[in-house]
Formats: sequence, C-alpha cells, structure tokens
Amino acid sequence: MLIGKTMVVTGAASGIGKRTAELAHSMGANVISVDRNTPDTPVGDFIAADLSTPQGVQELIDALPDGIDALANVAGLSGTTGVALTLAVNFLGLRALSLGLAPKMNQLGSVINVASIAGFGWRPNLARAKAAVGVLGFPDPAAFAADHGVTDEIAYPTSKEFLLLWTYQAAHHSLFKDKNIRVNAVSPGPVETPILKQFRSVLGDERVDSDIDRVGRAGTANDIAPTILFLASDGARWINGTNIACDGGLEASVMAEAMDF
Ligand SMILES: NC(=O)c1ccc[n+]([C@@H]2O[C@H](COP(=O)([O-])OP(=O)(O)OC[C@H]3O[C@@H](n4cnc5c(N)ncnc54)[C@H](O)[C@@H]3O)[C@@H](O)[C@H]2O)c1
Repeated sequence: MLIGKTMVVTGAASGIGKRTAELAHSMGANVISVDRNTPDTPVGDFIAADLSTPQGVQELIDALPDGIDALANVAGLSGTTGVALTLAVNFLGLRALSLGLAPKMNQLGSVINVASIAGFGWRPNLARAKAAVGVLGFPDPAAFAADHGVTDEIAYPTSKEFLLLWTYQAAHHSLFKDKNIRVNAVSPGPVETPILKQFRSVLGDERVDSDIDRVGRAGTANDIAPTILFLASDGARWINGTNIACDGGLEASVMAEAMDF
C-alpha cells in the first residue's frame, strides 16, 4: 500500500523516525529523510534541516519536490533543552512544515503527527491549548511560551497537547481538506530510543517505570513505525482527524484511573 508513494519522514536520523524511514523504504515508498543530524545510513534521499526556526522550515519546504504523498512528522525534543526549543520543534515548526508543504502534496495525501501519551491532558487544559493553537504562523517561541504560561517543567506535555488539538483542527483545514489530505496523530507511550533517557530526567524514573509497568514493557521503534505507515497508506483512507494510541494499552490504563472505571 506504499509502493510508489513519496513519503517525507522527519526525525529520520534516530529512533522512531529512522525505523519509519527504513520500513517505508522496504515497503516500496520513495523516502525523503529529514533531520538536523545526518543519519549513519540515510534511507532514500536525505535533506538536512533545522525544524526549530521559520527559516529552517522554509528552506526545507523549498528543497522538497512537488508530489508528496505523505508527511510523517516524527522529529521531536524531550523538553531538556528548554521550553522555547521544545515548542518550536514539537509544535510550531511541525505545524509550519505541514501547512507549508500542503501545496506540494498530492490529492489523498496523509500527514501523520507523532504526539505522545504525555499529551493526554489536552482536554483539562483545553483553554490554554485553544488560545495557543489559535496563534497563527511561527511566532517567537520564547514569547509564545510566556504568553501561554508554558514553562520548562511542562514544556514537553504541553507541546504534545497543542499538537493533538491542532491535529483535530487540521483535519478540517481547507489546505488539507480541499485536497482530501488526511491529518492524524499517533501517540506512543515510553519507547526504547535515545530520547527515553531524557524523559527519565524530565519526568523522573518513577513516572516512566510506572508507565512501563502498566503495560509490561517499553515499546520499540518497531512497534510504532507500522502504525505511522498504516496511516500513510490507502488502507487508512477513511481515518482522518484522529489520534491512535500506540502504547500497549497505556492510555486505556491511564484513562481508567483518571475516570474511575
Ligand atoms: N521515545 C519515546 O519514549 C517517545 C514517547 C512518546 C512520543 N515520542 C515522540 O516520538 C518522536 C520521535 O522520538 P524518538 O523516540 O525517535 O527520539 P529520538 O531522539 O531518537 O529522535 C528524535 C529525532 O528528532 C530530530 N530532531 C530534533 N530536533 C530537530 C530539529 N530542530 N530539526 C530536525 N530534526 C530534529 C533528532 O535529531 C532525532 O533524530 C518525538 O516526537 C517524540 O516526542 C517518543
């Protein structure tokens, strides 16, 4: 279902993005790998890009060809580098890239945003997310964080809350809808990649271990990539504006506790 499709994968130098690019390639897609770091063994074409700045995003859009079928927004930061950079990469840059690339995307395309179980709190924090996501363009990330009360401590979960809300909205954005481009999210729980160590320092070992204990093990990049690729495929043609938890049951467990059922 991916044969001949052109797929852009950000964050392709490591972890989930790397595995997504490899698997897409092995399933017949023409992969364009994107990262700020050069992958050890690049899959398909590789474009170096810094997705934390408006200039970096625009340079990437300019460098990409027309005829993109799928955009997998996998690049992300854990929050250890501070709130401005985290919001810039996990939300502002991702959104700017997706909107900017839409004119170069084919009809019936697909945008897949890698969010996180950490964004689970978007509903109770809806007022903040609505106000923040309502700010258009690529504002200065530090001022944007300050305006919406996002601090270093809550940078990561908040960036994913914004991303989830935007995903739901984007599914009905005319730039995508007029071309029947679907916009969905995939939310992993803890996954064994280099970023997990950083989550341990941001969230604490106890929280990460408790999440892992709830489902028996941490996920692997191999567990997440097929879900991203399914959403890129024609098999997901009627799936739009949704968030798929890809976490071994973690969200169900967290929800049962939060909602007491
Ligand atoms: N690993 C987990 O436990 C976990 C859990 C939930 C969600 N996620 C999400 O999955 C996604 C992928 O994470 P991962 O686990 O593969 O981590 P990773 O650290 O292995 O990979 C992240 C990649 O993003 C790239 N990147 C970061 N900033 C960039 C920038 N400014 N420009 C271009 N590329 C940039 C990095 O160079 C790296 O290759 C992230 O969005 C993360 O938030 C991960």
